[in-house]
Parts: sequence; structure tokens; C-alpha cells
Amino acid sequence: MTDLISHAHVTRGDYFCVESQLSPCGLVIFGASGDLTQRKLIPALLSIYQRGQLSEGFFILGCGRSQLTDQAFRATLASALKEEDKPRPMIDLFLKRCYYISGSYDDLELYKKLSHKLKELEGKYPTHGRKVFYLSTPPSLFPVIVERLGAEDMTSEDREKDRWVRVIVEKPFGHDLKSAVDLDNQLYKVLNENQLYRIDHYLGKETVQNILMFRFANAVFEPIWNRRYVDHVQITVAETLGVEHRAGYFEQAGQLRDMFQNHMMQMLALVAMEPPSSFDADRVRDEKLKLLRSIRPFALDDLERYIVRGQYGPGYFNDIPVKGYLEEEGVAKGSKVETYVGAKVLLDNWRWQGVPFYLRAGKRLPRRISEIAITFKSVPHSLFGNALSEQLPANVLVLNIQPEEGVSLTFQAKQPGPKVNMVPLTLDFHYRDVYSHGLPEAYERLLMDCIAGDQTLFIRHDEVTVAWGLLTPVLEAWATKKKGPYIYKSGTWGPLEADQLLERDKRKWRLLEGAILPR
Ligand code: NDP
Ligand code: BG6
Repeated sequence: MTDLISHAHVTRGDYFCVESQLSPCGLVIFGASGDLTQRKLIPALLSIYQRGQLSEGFFILGCGRSQLTDQAFRATLASALKEEDKPRPMIDLFLKRCYYISGSYDDLELYKKLSHKLKELEGKYPTHGRKVFYLSTPPSLFPVIVERLGAEDMTSEDREKDRWVRVIVEKPFGHDLKSAVDLDNQLYKVLNENQLYRIDHYLGKETVQNILMFRFANAVFEPIWNRRYVDHVQITVAETLGVEHRAGYFEQAGQLRDMFQNHMMQMLALVAMEPPSSFDADRVRDEKLKLLRSIRPFALDDLERYIVRGQYGPGYFNDIPVKGYLEEEGVAKGSKVETYVGAKVLLDNWRWQGVPFYLRAGKRLPRRISEIAITFKSVPHSLFGNALSEQLPANVLVLNIQPEEGVSLTFQAKQPGPKVNMVPLTLDFHYRDVYSHGLPEAYERLLMDCIAGDQTLFIRHDEVTVAWGLLTPVLEAWATKKKGPYIYKSGTWGPLEADQLLERDKRKWRLLEGAILPR
């Protein structure tokens, strides 16, 4: 499946122990002057380079409308890398491999120039014609770029000569079901599915990948991972940031498209899917797809019982006032765009029938935290019943995605002292205690996997369409409503109406440490 070419970097106990040097190839980044390239892609590539995993035959060709020379491009990258704690000579060597061409994305001339430049660079670096095109532009440009690459014959492969061409497509993949299908059809005119790497950076996070290892490499959890033992599951992605400088994009997207259609659905799929027969890209994606297909459609005539939207209003963080969404630059007057979504999701399959999955993702919440919490059923009968005033709390297993990556399990134990005296304790595992050099950034994993030809952590076309199929009716229903999202104060845990999703079921959102309680 993969085309890793050597096993040069094996270090005992190192988390890169099975990582190898990658095949030589050229990486062309469209949108090279943009935020994502500067903030995520280039630092990730530098880290891979520093570990010696990029081969000698590797180059980066930035492409954009801004007129820049190679030198000027390298200078912008150098300034994007100035916070990196890495040796200067190594950064300079890395930058020497970076080149730039400019032009307008819909102009055929750009692609002629690109084809010419690629031939020149492929003469200098022995890539054997292998290429990755990274589409890091506004999504409206994806079809035209791919069409023009095809027209200039830059996307054809030669399997016998191991000459491959891959295209990484950034999110959002479509705006709704129809636009996602249209986009697929446009891309398929030039590319086949094996060449398409639809990115969801959550899948590149170590702790999200760990969901599969945790579930399927340990015998103790899988037998209890089902409706007999699990009471409910909560998936939380809380951000303290607001919309920042991205109002232009966010006004068109909103939280359901931005976070639910991709990251939240993918985490739900990983935590609830059946074991795949192997860790092969399509076997894993088949199981995720099956799970996504089992999600019960939201009842449109009773939407609020299942999904609630909110928008942050003004509030405080550490006693400092912050603006509400409507006051942010670039936000339309009276905008009804949601910045918070809470949902109750039910799965119609044997494993999970009757077990609610509560999902919430919001901006300007009190604390930055992403976690998956599995609450088990309480013990069927407490033999300590007479001695304890309250019901024994249930065990909770928490997969901490960020920022404190790890796993924890709460359990009841005897407190020293009176004969029957119980206290909830936590078994905690923190990645930082074991891997002191920190975890690699999601984009490192994803870029390496694409170059290695491994699509496991990329989203297949059918996963995208099933997720849109579920959420598009909700978006349409919201669009017809006069009333917009519920307003919640910045620095609080979202609208009270989202609490009711659980209160109706006699449950509560997990109270996460650091919560600012008054609303
Ligand atoms: P930017 O707005 O920073 O733009 C990317 C580049 O696209 C710009 O540098 C610009 O380069 C070019 N561009 C912008 N607008 C136009 C236009 N109207 N016509 C032609 N070219 C244009 O975007 P980001 O870097 O933030 O995002 C890139 C992609 O990554 C998007 O699809 C986004 O949704 C996705 N993404 C970004 C994240 C982030 O954290 N930034 C997170 C997740 C996904 P030039 O003018 O030189 O061509
Ligand atoms: C992106 C969204 O995909 O994920 C952003 O577009 C969001 O709006 C971001 O802030 C969150 O990612 P992370 O890795 O910071 O949790």
C-alpha cells in the first residue's frame, strides 16, 4: 500500500520508530502565501525535513497570485518560521528547496509556466515525476485548478514506473450535499479516487488516531464497548477563540459546516465503528462509512430536541471583555450564523441502539478542550446502598484529544477510614509524561501519509456525502426559521437550550475543569 523506501530512522522507544524516509517527490502548494501554508504546512514540512524523512529529491514549489521571486518567497517562509526552535543552518537548507511561481489560477498561462518549472525542477531533483498538488486556496478554486492541471497533462500517472500524482484537497469539501457531489464530479473528470486526499486535520492528531489503537489493540475495552455497558457518550470540541480574522469564510460556513460535517462526524465514526478487518485504508473507511450511515436522521419536525445552535454574544475572559460575534469585523449585521452546535445523535445499529451520543462544538467557550467521554452504566445493584447516601457514580473513560493528550478512567475506591467510605479516583495517562519531546503536528502525519500513498487518514467521497446527507436537511430547516441561534455569553458553555438536550434524558454535559459557571 505504501511506498516508503528505507528504514533508516528506527530508534527504540521513539514514536517515529516505524517511520521511514519518504519517496522523492515535488510538492506544489496552491495558495502558498496564505495562512494555512505559512502557519501549518511549512512548519510541518520543516519538522519532517529535520527528522531526515524528506529525501534528497524533494522540493516545494509555491504557487499564487502575488508576484514573488524565489528569494522573496523564501523570505516570507523564513519569517513564518521565526518562532521555530530549530537550527538556523538546517532551516536555510530547507528553504533552498523552496521555489515560487506566480499567476492567476484561471489563466492557462500559469499552468504552462508551472509545467515548464516542474520539468526544470524535476531535472534538478530526482523525483521521477512524482508530485503532490496541495490545494490550499478558497474552495471555489479547487475545480478550476484541477481542470487546468489535467489540461496541461500534469495529473497522469505511470504505475509501472512508479510515477504517481496526488492531490490534497483542503476543507470544506462542498457547502452541502449537492455541492459536494458536484465537486466530486468535477474532480473525477481529471483524477481518480486513489489520487484524491481529502484532508480532515483532526484525523492527523495523534490522539484521534489513538482511538483505533486504544479500542482494537487492547482486549479489555472492546467487550464492554456497546449498549450493554455504555450509558452514553459525549464528544466535546471547545475553543476559547472566536472567529478571529476568518469572518469572510465563517459567515458562509457556520459551526455545523465548519466543525460537525467533518471533525465531529469523523470522531464519532472512529469511536463507534465496528472493528475493520485490517488497518488498510479502505477497510477502515468502509467501517466509518457504515457507522455514518447508521446515524438516525434528525427529526425535522422536532429539531430542537436533537440539535441546538448558538451564537456567542459579548462576554469576559479572565475579566477582560470580548466582543460578541455580531461585533466582529466582517460579520453581517444581524447575522444568524451559528458559532455553537450541540446535538443528540442516535445510531440505528445493534451495538449502539438506545445509547445517545451527545456532541457539542463551540467557539468562545471557557476552555480549550477536545475530548471523548464514555460514561458506563452504573452498577446494577449497590451492596453499599444502605451505607451511602448517594448513588454510586458511573465509571467514565475519557479520551483526551487536546490540549492534555491522554486517557483517563474514573473508578470508585475505598477511602481509608470508616468501613464503608468511597471516593471517586482517576487513573490517568498523559502522553507528555511518556513522550517528553511532544507530539507531532497533525499536518506532519497527513503530509507524510500522502507522500507515502496511505489514504487511511483521508476522507473518502462516500463519507463526505453521507455526512452532508445528514446535515443538509438541518441547514435547510435552519435557513427557513425566522429565529436565529440562541445567544450565549462569551466565556460560558453555550446556550441553556443545549443543556436541555441532556436534561430531558436526565443527564448533564460534563462539567469540565476551568468552567466559568455563571451564565
Ligand atoms: P487564505 O485566505 O489565507 O488564502 C489562501 C490563498 O489563496 C491566499 O494566500 C491567496 O494567495 C489565495 N486566494 C485567496 N483568495 C483568493 C481568490 N479570491 N482568488 C484567488 N486566490 C485567492 O486561506 P487559508 O490559508 O486560511 O486557507 C486555505 C484553505 O485551507 C481553505 O480551503 C481553508 O478552508 C482551508 N483551511 C484553513 C485553515 C486555517 O487554519 N487557515 C484550517 C482548515 C482549513 P494568492 O493571492 O497569492 O494566490
Ligand atoms: C478548523 C476550523 O478546521 O478547525 C476552525 O475551520 C477551528 O474553525 C479549527 O478553529 C480547530 O482546530 P484545532 O486543531 O485547533 O482544534
